[in-house]
Amino acid sequence: METIVKADAEQASRLVADLIAAQVRGKADSVLGLATGGTPVQTYRQLIEMNRSGQVDLSGVTSFNLDEYIGLDGDHPQSFRAFMNEQLFDHVNIDPARTFVPDGCAADVAAHCAKYESMIESAGGIDLQLLGLGHNGHIAFNEPGSPRDSRTRQVDLTPETIEKNARFFDAIDDVPCHAITMGIATILDARQIVLLATGAGKADAVAAMLQGPIDESHPASLLRNHDHVTVVLDQDAAGGLR
Ligand code: F6R
Repeated sequence: METIVKADAEQASRLVADLIAAQVRGKADSVLGLATGGTPVQTYRQLIEMNRSGQVDLSGVTSFNLDEYIGLDGDHPQSFRAFMNEQLFDHVNIDPARTFVPDGCAADVAAHCAKYESMIESAGGIDLQLLGLGHNGHIAFNEPGSPRDSRTRQVDLTPETIEKNARFFDAIDDVPCHAITMGIATILDARQIVLLATGAGKADAVAAMLQGPIDESHPASLLRNHDHVTVVLDQDAAGGLR
């Protein structure tokens, strides 16, 4: 695992955009695993700029997002599908038909999750998975205690995660309590993983991820079992490291 600390969130985000662009330049039909949340927004802005200025061509890329809230369809403004359209897909030359986000309104969630796994496999597996980091150590919506062999499935969100994500909704009661998420094993199958964490609020979670025990109680620590992970931090997020 390589850890890179940049001076601020902008520089950290730029490095992550550069890593994604390098992956796509090396393999035009790359399969990218993408994340939502506040953290990747600047990276997506930089990718949009790079795409517009011809520095990276996303027309051959396939993408799979990590997760989606149960009960929100893709037209719901707080759905992760809407987030991805607004923050990235609508502004770049990726083929919308090759952008996949779990369907939060699937009639048969278990069947949908199994299909999502098989679609990732049929696409050739994920070349580069982008991750953010939850304050409680979650990756995607794999909350503490998630099994390391978990796959795409329905999960319950912890009260802490619901509270943190309430900032994207009008009221906390509007935040769904359940989600579909790729599992830990799904994430660890990616050939390369890039985790971005910025801000002092992530410092404890970063320290536990990198220097605490490797344990399901802190899902991000399980990334240390993967042989190609780059953790990109700003100085604030690195502030808890010894
Ligand atoms: C998002 C996701 C989550 C976030 C994490 C950090 O698709 O799966 O694990 O990466 O909750 O969220 P932010 O970036 O909002 O701090």
